[in-house]
Amino acid sequence: MSSIKFFSGENVPLEMHKVRMVQKIHLLPIEKRMQCMSEAGYNTFLLKNLDIFLDMLTDSGTNAMSENQYAAMLQADDSYAGSETFYRLERVLQDIFGMKHFLPAHQGRACEHIIAQILVQDKSIALMNYHFTTTKAHISRMGGIIEEIIIDEAYKIQSTNPFKGNMDIDKLQKAIKQHGKDKISMVRIEAGTNLIGGQPVSMANLREVSKICRSEGIKLIYDASLLTDNLYFHKIRENEYKNKDLKEITREIGSLTDLIYFSARKLGAARGGGILTSDGDMFGKMRELVPLFEGFLTYGGMSVREMEAMAIGLQESLDMDVISQTPIFVEALCNDLTAKGIPVVSPPGGLGCHLDAKAFCSHVPQTEYPAGALAAAVFIAGGIRGMERGTISEQRNEDGTEHYADMELLRLAFPKRVFTLSQVKYIADRLSWLYANRNLIGGLEFVEEPKVLRFFFGRLQPKGDWPQKLAAQFRKDFGESL
Ligand code: F0G
Repeated sequence: MSSIKFFSGENVPLEMHKVRMVQKIHLLPIEKRMQCMSEAGYNTFLLKNLDIFLDMLTDSGTNAMSENQYAAMLQADDSYAGSETFYRLERVLQDIFGMKHFLPAHQGRACEHIIAQILVQDKSIALMNYHFTTTKAHISRMGGIIEEIIIDEAYKIQSTNPFKGNMDIDKLQKAIKQHGKDKISMVRIEAGTNLIGGQPVSMANLREVSKICRSEGIKLIYDASLLTDNLYFHKIRENEYKNKDLKEITREIGSLTDLIYFSARKLGAARGGGILTSDGDMFGKMRELVPLFEGFLTYGGMSVREMEAMAIGLQESLDMDVISQTPIFVEALCNDLTAKGIPVVSPPGGLGCHLDAKAFCSHVPQTEYPAGALAAAVFIAGGIRGMERGTISEQRNEDGTEHYADMELLRLAFPKRVFTLSQVKYIADRLSWLYANRNLIGGLEFVEEPKVLRFFFGRLQPKGDWPQKLAAQFRKDFGESL
């Protein structure tokens, strides 16, 4: 995106790419949308892609790829061991982060599995700015405990703090003192903190965290899955980085941390994952696990074609024109919604627009999953698929009681360079209709509840017949026939 000035004075984000391959999408009539939602157990993960108009579930593996990425796939070197594709990808990653060793894995959570295996002991503490669902699941699986030591401002839905993903340095020092450094398995910083609304971490904060970790001898792990959004915000919101080259920034991140891992379904706009470190000891331990769980060391469960696409995608991630569309579109949608009085997480972050379901559906109690209910309502209203990021995304406590999320969010993710501005306007329009009719939205209850990662395939049902009432109002207002 560029900030080219318009004669009209309008502030229009202008795409610095053109679209030469397209996919047809369908907007089903309201009755069908309601039926699909019911068949999917009111869980947007269980909807079928063909039934969705705008898929904003995630950007994971759904980002637009460039012509150079497709071209690179044709030169992939298919061999079990010693593939040239692997060495090409390794060189790109070493160059971006300045780290010595690279291990491939089939996606981000596979990296987390390997990292947790080598670092987490029973009852050890992992300190982090905030958890991600799969990170928490892997650490808990090894008997580890997670402690979130993000700044208090992060829990404020509406804020002006430009770096709500920052770790609270005071809390970090206190936690190390309280537990003792030997009980701490890792300090983990997540770029573009996913579950609190794609909020970035500043370099100033990372520097301070790194200093403490180095002086205490604690490993600092950096989850770079959402790195591109965080890079954008270093440049836009952190003065000293305004004129810095993006590679200088990634190099600095590499120099401050002991291990970087990422989901290449996000970073690199392909499908896969990887771990980087210059620490020979950690590398040695992890290297034994890759062939066991992922695949041989030169492909790690990935297709070589995806690895070639990833190598190019990673290089393209160092181009502001490429990485700025998502945060700019998020900002455009958030500003539009805020102007209409619709509650969203602010300041706008990366990844997507996050609706505050607790405020949107203030009449739906947290026991009835307001973010899940809002996700279902948004699909019924507009064929738009978002992702519940609230209590349903949490796991129950050991004693079976509900673990209520800090925030009840509905995430509308922007796959990179996939949507157009008119589609953004459509989203804002349907959300403003829904907001005007928000009293019609009711709660949900589980009918099938898996023990682990229940949000993926759990099934729910509405409390009462609110979806029918919502659809009836929609037909009245938009005149959509049966
Ligand atoms: N870390 C972060 C910050 C993530 O956002 C994700 C995935 C992972 C790790 C795990 O990576 O999916 O490749 O195994 N986030 C996706 C999302 C699922 O929709 O936000 P993965």
